[in-house]
Amino acid sequence: ALERTLSMIKPDAVGKNLIGAIYSRFESAGLRIVAAKMMHLSKEQAEGFYAEHKERPFFGALVGFMTSGPIMVTALEGENAVLKHREIMGATNPAEALAGTLRADYAETIDENAVHGSDAVESAGREIAYFFSDEELCPRTR
Ligand code: CMP
Repeated sequence: ALERTLSMIKPDAVGKNLIGAIYSRFESAGLRIVAAKMMHLSKEQAEGFYAEHKERPFFGALVGFMTSGPIMVTALEGENAVLKHREIMGATNPAEALAGTLRADYAETIDENAVHGSDAVESAGREIAYFFSDEELCPRTR
C-alpha cells in the first residue's frame, strides 16, 4: 500500500555532513520526500516526540543528544514506506545493523544512531503530524 513514514536525520549524521548521502538512499529505493525541514529541537519538543520512552533509563541521554544540534525532519511517501525505510536504516543498534544499511555505514552507537524512522503506519501518522501541518505535506502530482 502507498504509505508515509517520518524520517529524521539525527544531530550526529547532520554534523558529519551526510544529509545528501542519506536522502540519496531513500530516493534510490523509490521513496519520495513529501515534506522536509531542518530544525534544532528544544528540550520540550524532543521530550514530546519521544514521550513513549520517558520511563526508559536512556531517556535523558536521548533528549540531550537530540537537542545537541540540528536535525532534518522528513516525511517520505512510497509503496510499503514504513518497512522499506526501516530496512534502509538497519537495526537500532549499529552493532546489529546489516551491512549496507545507514546505521551500519554511518552510526557508531545505539545512542547516536544517525537516523530515526516510524515503526508502524499508526506511529507514522502521529509522528508526521507532530512536525508537519497538512498544508506542509506535498503529495506528488508528477
Ligand atoms: P530511535 O528509533 O530514534 O528511538 C529511540 C532511540 O533511543 C533509539 O532510536 C536509540 O537511538 C535510543 N536508545 C538508546 N538506548 C536504547 C535501547 N536500549 N533501546 C532502544 N533505543 C535506545
